Amino acid sequence: MEILPFDAALGAEIRCGDVHQASNATIAQIRQASLDHLVLLIRAQTLSDAQLCAFGKHFGELQLSNPLPSPLANEGKVAQGRRDERYPEVTVVSNVIENGVALGGLGDGELVWHTDMSSFAAPPNQTILHALEVPASGGRTGFLNMYRAYETLPPALKTRVRDLKLKHDSTIDAAGYVRKPFAKDADIDLRAGPGSEHPLLRTHPETRSDCLYLGRRTRAFIVGMEATESEALLDELWAHATQHQFVWRHDWRVGDVLMWDNRCTMHHREPFDASARRHLHRMVVKGSVPVLASLV
Ligand code: OGA
Ligand code: MN
Repeated sequence: MEILPFDAALGAEIRCGDVHQASNATIAQIRQASLDHLVLLIRAQTLSDAQLCAFGKHFGELQLSNPLPSPLANEGKVAQGRRDERYPEVTVVSNVIENGVALGGLGDGELVWHTDMSSFAAPPNQTILHALEVPASGGRTGFLNMYRAYETLPPALKTRVRDLKLKHDSTIDAAGYVRKPFAKDADIDLRAGPGSEHPLLRTHPETRSDCLYLGRRTRAFIVGMEATESEALLDELWAHATQHQFVWRHDWRVGDVLMWDNRCTMHHREPFDASARRHLHRMVVKGSVPVLASLV
């Protein structure tokens, strides 16, 4: 097996042949590479959903997720496709509409910087995407190294974020749409919104290193802090964390498997041509409650 780190703040390509035939030793190396490089790219895979699930289970228990919403289905223009009940752990990320049915969710627009499902009490450790169809251009997925974002903060800010908690609100998805259960409450009071509170600085349970855990910007606030002060601090942290020097962007090819550690990265998707087909299968590995180890 080969591990080829990218010339960037995070990410590496793994060359290991077909992952569904990987030995236990190779899987152990991939797990370690994931801790070392945060985002892994494995090219030229042709995984069935059964093989994708089997691969995902090497990294922990899989999390069942609801179908990702299609913006067009949200607007009532097409029907939302149903998931394949044989593989309920697999969700579909796609803009493709077939016979008036959206194959998957998240459309063709920009997805703002976020980490997956941080509004959950125990957000997932890993997300794995497998590309079945990709556009000729656009739709790149970018990643941020949130250890680096923390390590490079000015000392005064490092001290300031130590004891703070952030509210991760689940009203709006990364595509900017109000999630269905909250459609009637789009103007829901910020402080009373659905979601979870997590430490702004968390310790990765496996690497034991600390990283910023920002979730997403929309409707986020620092618990117990006056609104103007909270906005100013979050703006400062986001401006710092989203600098180019912490980013690596992935240009998709059919067959790519891309997996990332949600605890210490954020990701972003560029928009792409609405008439192009983009179709990926996704799975999510369960995680634990975020903690700052020095406080427990
Ligand atoms: C996701 C996601 C990015 C993409 O599936 O969680 O953010 O590039 N996808 O589609
Ligand atoms: Mn995501």
